[in-house]
Amino acid sequence: MTKKKLIAGNWKMNGGLAANEALLRALLAGLGQPSADVAVCAPAPYLAQLQGLLAGGPIGWGAQDLSAHEQGAYTGEVSAAMLKDFGCRYAIVGHSERRQYHGETDATVAAKAQRALAAGITPIVCVGETLVEREAEQTEAVVKRQLAAVIHAVAHCTSEIVVAYEPVWAIGTGQTATPEQAQQVHAVLRAQLAAATHQAERVHILYGGSMNAANAASLLAQPDIDGGLIGGASLKAPDFLRIIAAAH
Ligand code: G3P
Repeated sequence: MTKKKLIAGNWKMNGGLAANEALLRALLAGLGQPSADVAVCAPAPYLAQLQGLLAGGPIGWGAQDLSAHEQGAYTGEVSAAMLKDFGCRYAIVGHSERRQYHGETDATVAAKAQRALAAGITPIVCVGETLVEREAEQTEAVVKRQLAAVIHAVAHCTSEIVVAYEPVWAIGTGQTATPEQAQQVHAVLRAQLAAATHQAERVHILYGGSMNAANAASLLAQPDIDGGLIGGASLKAPDFLRIIAAAH
């Protein structure tokens, strides 16, 4: 089954009103008619700006995180319903930076994925091993454990999630997984999804970790790589546009 690829930018904690507007206008001007679905995930304060600039156009938008709780006394948290108010189609959950720096567990990530789905937002569920785990040959076990928690929580909605394989050692390091290394893990994830849903082929499994204009085509040519979750290169319009153009 062929499906459109998905190219999503994760701006992380970067940007500002003026820079965002310049970036988005450059993307809109250069996009043409992309063969891939395109989205950008911005810091929460800018979601209203994205809604204003992108509504009705070819670029979707999303958040980088959301609360595991529905509402109430959770200072600093942003709920799924709030993201929905600002038109978010996606929310990244379980990014390794949140697992590492904010102590997010598999259970928290699973709860966040559930909250997103309940609000009609597609969770982009990140999984990935550290360098120590890869060297200890734990890659498969780690990503399967991380994905299993989400599959268990979302059950019959498994086919509605997006998965992003982001090896931690490749994030922001310029060291990309080879297409073969990435494909190997993506195939493991696809098989795991297939055991949970007969619609596993529908699920987008993105690769993330130093994907750039030069290496995107070879990664995206792999049979189980259905798109990319792009950090640094999504902040530069020409680079992001070249990655989008490589996705067909
Ligand atoms: O979520 C995207 C990501 O972590 C990859 O970041 O800068 O290596 O493309 P980067």
